[in-house]
Amino acid sequence: MKTIIEPFKIKMVEQLRFTTESERRELIRRAHYNPFLLHSDDVLIDFLTDSGTTAMSQKQWSRLMDGDEAYAGSRSYYAFEEVVHDLTGLKHIIPTHQGRAAEKILFSIVGGKGKVIPNNTHFDTTRANIEESGAEAVDLPTAIGVRPEVRADFKGNMDVERLEALIEKVGAQNIPLCMMTVTNNSGGGQPVSMQNIRETKKLLSRYGIPFFLDACRFAENAYFIKLHEPGYEHKTVGEIAREMFSYVDGATMSAKKDGLVNTGGFLAMNDDELARKARNVLIVTEGFTTYGGLARRDLEAIAQGLREVLNESYLAYRIRSVEYFGEKLVAAGVPILEPPGGHAIYLDARRFVPDIPPEQFPGQSIVVALYEHGGIRSCEIGSVMFGHKDANGKHVGPPMELVRMAIPRRVYTQSHIDYCIEAVIEVYEKRNELRGMRMTYEAPTLRHFTAHFESV
Ligand code: F0G
Repeated sequence: MKTIIEPFKIKMVEQLRFTTESERRELIRRAHYNPFLLHSDDVLIDFLTDSGTTAMSQKQWSRLMDGDEAYAGSRSYYAFEEVVHDLTGLKHIIPTHQGRAAEKILFSIVGGKGKVIPNNTHFDTTRANIEESGAEAVDLPTAIGVRPEVRADFKGNMDVERLEALIEKVGAQNIPLCMMTVTNNSGGGQPVSMQNIRETKKLLSRYGIPFFLDACRFAENAYFIKLHEPGYEHKTVGEIAREMFSYVDGATMSAKKDGLVNTGGFLAMNDDELARKARNVLIVTEGFTTYGGLARRDLEAIAQGLREVLNESYLAYRIRSVEYFGEKLVAAGVPILEPPGGHAIYLDARRFVPDIPPEQFPGQSIVVALYEHGGIRSCEIGSVMFGHKDANGKHVGPPMELVRMAIPRRVYTQSHIDYCIEAVIEVYEKRNELRGMRMTYEAPTLRHFTAHFESV
């Protein structure tokens, strides 16, 4: 088989700005060792997120010009609604300006004190919106899902036995809905199998609990099902995605990922009463029901993006480029979460710098080194993002200490990836020089965005 190439050519370019290592040492120091506080002009390769960083196609750009900016009843809304309905089969399609707006609306209605919302693993904004409503967010990954060194398919799965135990413990009446995140972002971008979706659905149906998909990366998940789940090899990714949605009663989606756009999202569901309430909240917080906080032209771009993302040469390139990145790192002995997921490489900080304890944020220390050494911006997903102190002031960390290098869609070429492979390997070779970090400022919620650090 020949090299899988980028299935596009480049018509417009964006200049990169090069800095020296000594400049970067000063820049990251001024940003309090938090890459969220860097100026993006000072970043060479930006792997902070794959969200909203997509390069749009010429068809998407041309459809922006074709947007109908009517406040109500816009033609662009109907084009968007048709594509989302065709994909998800869901009855009510409510546009939002991004994923967390859909979450906020949903949980302000179904959440509240005493309620429990399970998920394979909640993304941080999902968890924050649930907790802000007063409800409890529970993660139920499988045992291998939290073991970065184990190579297995579908490590994003929900632990269905633990889900049943949770339902028995708290009572179905206290679980307004159960989520499933595809792919499982906080669990390493790992896919969920169709079998797991089906088993989860079956269990929830027995208890009468609605099932919602956090569908940000549904196309990448569907492609993994095609590659690795018996019985799906001859189905199209579109057919697989439609089957995934056929099991759920609703979905939240950040179109900034597999919608292939820079902003947008939606909330969708079958329940008429829930939809009526959601549209009322939408009008207060986001905008009218046919634009939901977006320019109408953005709905055109999402409609086009949701079709393009199901193109299998795109997905083959997408999944292969992440896998290629991972393969080269593993060959050089760099510890990563295996196998690579759909949208990112996750370095396993525990094994990368075993001498830095979780309370000294080993992941943050690697993030800083990658920036200083290579101008690469990455993101800690470990004790900075999910850790806290207990009543005795003792650090409580999450099961994994990871550094995410999320790959924007259709933005970087193979030589950019080769450069990053070299830079990561060089940082790994110098890992004994890395020092732990101390947090000197933290906000009350989602502290990773604005925290300040210093070297221990
Ligand atoms: N759910 C998942 C699984 C996500 O990954 C994200 C965003 C959201 C919900 C929220 O969507 O950003 O449009 O409000 N993830 C980005 C990331 C921010 O970097 O992984 P949003």
